[in-house]
Amino acid sequence: MSHQQRKDDHVAHAHALYRERRINDFDHLDFVHHSFPELDCVAISLATRTRAFAWPFPFYINGMTGGSAKTLEINRQLGEVAQATGLAIASGSQSAALKDPNVRASFSVLRERHPNGFVLGNVGAGVSPTQAEQAVEMLHADALQVHINAPQELVMPEGDREFGAWLDNIEAIRARVGVPVVVKEVGFGMSEETAFRLRERGVELVDVSGRGGTNFIAIENLRRSAQEYDYLEGWGQSAVVSLLEVSPHMGALDVLASGGVRHPLDVLKALALGARAVGVSGRVLHILLSEGPEVLIETLEAWKAQLRTLMAMVGATTVEELRHTDLLIRGPVREHCELRGID
Ligand code: FNR
Repeated sequence: MSHQQRKDDHVAHAHALYRERRINDFDHLDFVHHSFPELDCVAISLATRTRAFAWPFPFYINGMTGGSAKTLEINRQLGEVAQATGLAIASGSQSAALKDPNVRASFSVLRERHPNGFVLGNVGAGVSPTQAEQAVEMLHADALQVHINAPQELVMPEGDREFGAWLDNIEAIRARVGVPVVVKEVGFGMSEETAFRLRERGVELVDVSGRGGTNFIAIENLRRSAQEYDYLEGWGQSAVVSLLEVSPHMGALDVLASGGVRHPLDVLKALALGARAVGVSGRVLHILLSEGPEVLIETLEAWKAQLRTLMAMVGATTVEELRHTDLLIRGPVREHCELRGID
């Protein structure tokens, strides 16, 4: 199986598995409605910041693809969408381009199409600090995502089996690259212990990327006829549970959230749980592939407008104020919190 074929498979399977109205843990959160917003809509700002950067909007296009002719075209369109909407955008894993210069254009096209925007590079936790630096240079990246994806690697027959050096390596990458590093999961979520481990290594930015949207175990199962790991498709924590898990570390860590974000109400809920910004992959890919870049731009513009509406409904003029809204936690999310002693 060639690397290029794998990248094309991931896109095709993610798209095929995407379900518009799939229930996930965001549905187990409800805002309490209060009748007096006590604000004027004109005062509402969508701007957000971490200690490393400031963005005009609190959601972004999360890391997806690159590494083949088909994914070059997708990245070209995603770069144009990011440029038109002013959203930050992350690249898919640049590992292929670090090994094969012939596929570099399929990643660098993101920067070409979004020349002055915020672009995040993406590498796995196993690359060397020098390779991480090369990935940043390739995109003139403003930040670097380092993905941690042990379950995905383990269910891939050709996947990585050496995880012993990941934490040391993340520390070395952080020390070497001259841009902020975001350590991100890929749809399995993060625990309190994971956040603690990362803090010990000086990491200040994470993306909890939880379960409930794109599911890499399901994608890898589709790539094999035998579907060996079909019983594992519920592995991991949702973004909602992950945000609650890592909340004790939110002073030291700036936390981004992704995984299963379907609409602006999910964005609002993640921000209310303390996320500084919210990443979207599966939904963006689905709209791009089924309806094209123009509709994707219109949708993302509608998300901005609707997010303002929703902020007004909960009486928040800023992303920070969202953290003081009244959010009810129900069902399995509540049970998780009880079992883990999270209040
Ligand atoms: C991804 N994702 C991903 N993440 C990463 O860090 N490096 C990568 O190369 C990829 N590749 C990739 C390909 C495709 C086709 C998709 C849909 C996703 C994972 C992504 O960034 C995110 O963590 C998860 O998809 C969960 O978010 P959604 O899709 O539920 O919004």
